[in-house]
Amino acid sequence: MQELIAARMRNVKPSFVREVLKAAGRSDLISFAGGLPAPELFDVEGLREATLAVFDGNAAPALQYGPTDGNAELRAALAALTNERGANAQPDEIVVTTGSQQGIDLVARAVLDPGDIVLLERPTYLAAVQVFELAQAELVGVEGDEQGIDPDELERVVEELAARGRKPKMLYVVATFANPSGSTLPEARRRRVLEIAVKHGLLVLEDDPYSELRFTGEPVTPMIGLARDIDGASELTAYMSSLSKVIAPGLRIGWMVLPEWLHSRVVITKQASDLHASTLAQHTALNYLRSGRLPGHIDRIREAYRERAEAMMASLERHLPEGVLTYRRPEGGMFLWASMAEGVDTMALVEKAVASGVIYVPGIPFYSGNAPTHHMRLSFVTVTPEVIDEGVRRFASAVLD
Ligand SMILES: Cc1ncc(COP(=O)(O)O)c(C=O)c1O
Repeated sequence: MQELIAARMRNVKPSFVREVLKAAGRSDLISFAGGLPAPELFDVEGLREATLAVFDGNAAPALQYGPTDGNAELRAALAALTNERGANAQPDEIVVTTGSQQGIDLVARAVLDPGDIVLLERPTYLAAVQVFELAQAELVGVEGDEQGIDPDELERVVEELAARGRKPKMLYVVATFANPSGSTLPEARRRRVLEIAVKHGLLVLEDDPYSELRFTGEPVTPMIGLARDIDGASELTAYMSSLSKVIAPGLRIGWMVLPEWLHSRVVITKQASDLHASTLAQHTALNYLRSGRLPGHIDRIREAYRERAEAMMASLERHLPEGVLTYRRPEGGMFLWASMAEGVDTMALVEKAVASGVIYVPGIPFYSGNAPTHHMRLSFVTVTPEVIDEGVRRFASAVLD
C-alpha cells in the first residue's frame, strides 16, 4: 500500500525525540531526553479552579464553536502577556493556535511552496524541521555559536544563495533559550538579523516558548519588539509563543502575532486545519490568566529549574573527570547542550546509556544536512535533583565503561 502514501511523506522520518520518549516510558529509565515540564510543578489547584469556573454561569461559549483566530478576551490577555516581554502586540494581530507547534505549521503552509528555501540555525528544533520537510521546503542551515545564530554567517549564506539566483523566503529562529542549544541571541545580533531580513525581504519566524523561564541574567527584548525600531522589519516578523512551558502543554494553547498580510492567510489555513483551538481549553486558559496565579507560578518554575540546572552541572562535575564533557551554562529554559570530544558518537553512546538506565537525546537529529556526532541535549527539568544525580551517575558509568 506504500504507493498510496503522498510523495512528500516518503522521506519524512518519525521524530527521534518521540521515539526516545516511547523508550523513556520504561519505568526504570531516568530520562534527560524529553522537553517535558516538571510534572509535580503543575498548578493543579489553580487549573482545577480555572476549569470549574468555566461551568459557573454561562458555559455555552466554552462548549460551542468559536472564532478561528480565538476568543477575543483570551487574545487580549495574550497580547498583554506578549507586551510584558517588550513587544507591542494588538489583540487583533493575534491568532490563538493549538500549541505553538501548529503555528509553525500554519505559517509554513501559508507561505511556502515546494522548493522554497527556509533558513534554520544549526542545530535547531526538530519538530520545526519536520514541518518544513512536510512543506517540501529546501532547508539551509546557518551556523551559530554559544550566542545563537551568527549574523555574518546569515548574510554570507543569503548572498551565496543570491549568487546562485536563489532567494530564501523565511528564517526560523528560537532566539531565547533555544531548543536544543539553550543559546540566547544577544540584542545586537537580533537587530542585525532583522536588518538582514529587511535587506533581503526575508520573513523572520520567531518562536519563543521559553523566554519566561529565565533564572539568571537579564531578559532580552524579543525580535518582534526590536523590529519596531527598524524600518520595514515589523512587516517581516512573525512571533509565536505558548502556554505549554509556563502553564501546561496539555492545554495545547499557543499564539502567534502576525503582520496583517500574513494574518488573514494564516486564519484561512487554520480554518481548514481545525476551525479553531479548543474553546474549552481557551476558556480554561483565560480563567487561569485572570486568576492572577501565573506570575507566582512562573517564579516557582524558574526557581526549581535553576536548582535543577545547578544540580545537573554539579553532578556532571562530580561523576565525570574534567574535560570529558563540556557544556554551556544555561541561563534559563530547559536544556543543557553538552559536547564530548570531536569524533565521539553520542548516537552509539545512547544505547550504552539506556543499558545503564538513563537516556538523553544525541545531537545529530537536530541538524539538517551534515551533522557533528559529538553533541547531546540533556533536559534538566523533568526530574528532581536527587534523581538527576543518580541519572548522571548512570550516564558517567556508560561514558567511562
Ligand atoms: C522551540 C519549540 N517550539 C515549539 C514547541 C511546541 O510547543 P507547543 O506546541 O506545546 O506550544 C516546542 C516544544 O518543545 C519547542 O521546543
